[in-house]
Amino acid sequence: MTRSRKISTGLRVRSSGRKGSKIVKSKSRIIGDKWSKTIAMRKDLTLNKHIPRTKLATKDSLRSMLTQYRMVYVKPSRGSQGRGVMRMEKLGAKYTYQLGSKKSTFTTYAAAYRSIHKEMKGKRYLVQKGIRLLKHKGRRFDIRLMVQRAPQGGWAATGTLGRAAHPGKIVTNGSQGGSIYSTVQVLKSHAGPAGRRKLLKSMDRLGLRTARLLRGVSPGIKELGLDFAIDAKLKPWILEVNTVPAVCPFSLLADQSMLRRIVRYGKAYGKTYQLKCTKAKRGK
Ligand SMILES: Nc1ncnc2c1ncn2[C@@H]1O[C@H](COP(=O)(O)OP(=O)(O)OP(=O)(O)O)[C@@H](O)[C@H]1O
Ligand SMILES: [Mg+2]
Repeated sequence: MTRSRKISTGLRVRSSGRKGSKIVKSKSRIIGDKWSKTIAMRKDLTLNKHIPRTKLATKDSLRSMLTQYRMVYVKPSRGSQGRGVMRMEKLGAKYTYQLGSKKSTFTTYAAAYRSIHKEMKGKRYLVQKGIRLLKHKGRRFDIRLMVQRAPQGGWAATGTLGRAAHPGKIVTNGSQGGSIYSTVQVLKSHAGPAGRRKLLKSMDRLGLRTARLLRGVSPGIKELGLDFAIDAKLKPWILEVNTVPAVCPFSLLADQSMLRRIVRYGKAYGKTYQLKCTKAKRGK
């Protein structure tokens, strides 16, 4: 068993471009770049079926993804807390996109791209098939799953919760007004007990598979937070894998048993957590 408190390691990943392989090193994030994680995960055929189609955003890729899916998310490859995330739609002959609470409409693709491109500020962005998230009380929600190294060895799925977006926003992040609910609260109007069990089990399996895969490329990983979108057919889609997941949202749940387990497992590999939530709120 490793006793190291330092969880950061260099990761060797093959980049998709002509640059060949590169080392991604970071103190706080084991693999910080969404694009590198997507490439690593897509190699697994099972995971690939649960990852919305993703490309590097260019004028052409964005246009073709919009034509194909009608709604896409455009997000910074190194973003966090939902900052810079945009939701773009093609509605008939019109193009719209939303960033924060602001929605803009354009009559041509060229004009829409000019505006979106300005928002990208020269940074690397991804374009991803948009999943129409289920809603709870009129708010879009996704599900956070925590996966950790277990004290007895192996990996364990240690907690899940629902994150509902602020009514006027397109991201569920707590720092953007998102609220925390239990998974039962957000799922109960969409699935009965058997359907919920099946869905949660499927997310657990995908989470464990992701952990094993990412550990293969970055052995220092001890924990992951996966964000799952659930579509109308109750299919879970992996939107994002956080290598430094916040644990405080679990402290907002009425049932504290998941929090206790997460903290106990973290302690076994030398991790302590900030448990006071300054951003996410308890959902009402
Ligand atoms: N393809 C998508 N379809 C629907 N909603 C999406 C999609 N991608 C992102 N979102 C919404 O936007 C939110 C933020 O996206 P994402 O998690 O990718 O970035 P981030 O939160 O800024 O990054 P990090 O999780 O590393 O902090 C998601 O939690 C989800 O609510
Ligand atoms: Mg996220």
